[in-house]
Amino acid sequence: MSVKDTEFNGIPVKELFPEERKGWTGFVEWENAPERKRIAHELLETKKFTPIPDFQTDPLPKTNPILIGHRWKEYHEALGLKSIVDFSWEMVQKEKEDMLHVLDFPYNGETLPKYILGDGKITQNKHHFIRNHGGVPDINADAFELEIGGLVKTPVKISLKDLQDPTKFPQAEVTVTLQCSGTRRREQIDVYPGDGDELINAPWGEGAIGTAVYRGVPLKKVLKIACGGILPECQHLEFIGADTYFKKKEVYNYAVSVPWRKARQNEEVLLAWEMNGEPLPKIHGAPLRVVVTGYIGARSCKWVYRINALSEPSFGPVQRQEYLYYNQQARSTIGKQNVLISNGFSIQAMPVSSAIMEPRDRDVIIHDGSITLKGWAYSGNGNWVERVEVSPDGGHVWYPCAPDNMTKKHYHAWRLWSIEVPVDAEGWLEFCVRTWDSSNNTEPTYVRSAWNWDLHVTSSAHRIKLYSVNKTKSLTARRLKQLEENGQSFFPLTEPLEFTIQPFEEYEAAYQKEPREPTD
Ligand code: MTE
Repeated sequence: MSVKDTEFNGIPVKELFPEERKGWTGFVEWENAPERKRIAHELLETKKFTPIPDFQTDPLPKTNPILIGHRWKEYHEALGLKSIVDFSWEMVQKEKEDMLHVLDFPYNGETLPKYILGDGKITQNKHHFIRNHGGVPDINADAFELEIGGLVKTPVKISLKDLQDPTKFPQAEVTVTLQCSGTRRREQIDVYPGDGDELINAPWGEGAIGTAVYRGVPLKKVLKIACGGILPECQHLEFIGADTYFKKKEVYNYAVSVPWRKARQNEEVLLAWEMNGEPLPKIHGAPLRVVVTGYIGARSCKWVYRINALSEPSFGPVQRQEYLYYNQQARSTIGKQNVLISNGFSIQAMPVSSAIMEPRDRDVIIHDGSITLKGWAYSGNGNWVERVEVSPDGGHVWYPCAPDNMTKKHYHAWRLWSIEVPVDAEGWLEFCVRTWDSSNNTEPTYVRSAWNWDLHVTSSAHRIKLYSVNKTKSLTARRLKQLEENGQSFFPLTEPLEFTIQPFEEYEAAYQKEPREPTD
């Protein structure tokens, strides 16, 4: 059978998996439709799909998009949902033009290094990173309603208009850094390849993080005002998103949860419709998304249309089977040969982490005895960044950033920092950054210290190699002058010098002073 058959068991595919709600294009209800799920699985089982690319053992292509999501496009096509794939890419072009496209579908886009610092503390919507597990639904705000059910006193349906009415629900604005737990995954891959997940565990650099001011209503208030509160058995809140998600040929809507004790803190779980003073972009979850402060980005469910109050965490695969932190080389849970889902713990709050964004790894810097470095520093769970330190020698001597060279503190957002570090030595040096948060947590020294099979949470000190050229040194100054006189640039570093390195007389004098061989 081809991927694109229009019928299955004599029934048109469009009828099997319909978009039922008016004004909700690209949305199929899976979670409340077990029979539909069963048929979709049966259909997918009849087909062959393109294998998942291995990008961990070979170098990444230098293309943009870097990776192509053939398999997930085919999953959608097989269920007659190709229009979702097309609409998603349309949204990338409209809302996310100038990004590093890590994966074209489901779309994963990283903020370019120049915008992380260039945009300042608040990342512009068009530059904010995106992590999608499926396509982008196109939901008309006027047709939208949010359902809340499960262990609440009164299950309700609320229109977006009512939710946005400040006379009904008190609103809040919160400055929030969202970070994907895969940020800086490339560093882990460089040490050892790890799990090759079916939905590509994107090879992120330092740009799967961004900060925005979100406006919405605290979930706690909605539960209280609209539902009359929760029942005593409620311990977790499950969020269901309108996108379609696949795992091992089973079909779902995106589903995750957070503990009720997290949502109890007023503004820490927000139902948001505005990002940086603008309506939430479609690719960021319009018309409504959850924003969970200080937690792994995966819990901030986009296109949320149903909330269930539960006694245990969501059974959605994103909650239970992914975003797990496995140990690395202990007992029987090393990796492919023996990994069990029950051995990973679910990642929720994010640890402290940081990155150097300027200069870039392997840059050559000609300087006067000091080098300026810039970057971001963040800690989750309501801890804020207290101190950022940079080392010019791989982690022995640490210089702290002056508070004046760091952006303002926030409970739930990063601080951008810059520092001028004294550098006497020349040649290849290893710089690294580490951050201390308000609870005195800091970062592991090496990637290897916290490497894990699923390649999550690369929170170790971020390291870059810089080639230092200190022009306050007399020999260096002389060489730079020679280069200038000969019209040759120092760059690229590897280009051979076109002129004689040393006059013969000078060499001979030095040799005579210190001949190679002993005289007796
Ligand atoms: N919500 C839905 N419905 N579907 C998704 O694929 N991805 C999650 C989260 N919410 C996702 C989702 C992940 S893993 C992250 S890191 C954040 O959204 C990213 O949010 P952003 O794309 O708005 O930056």
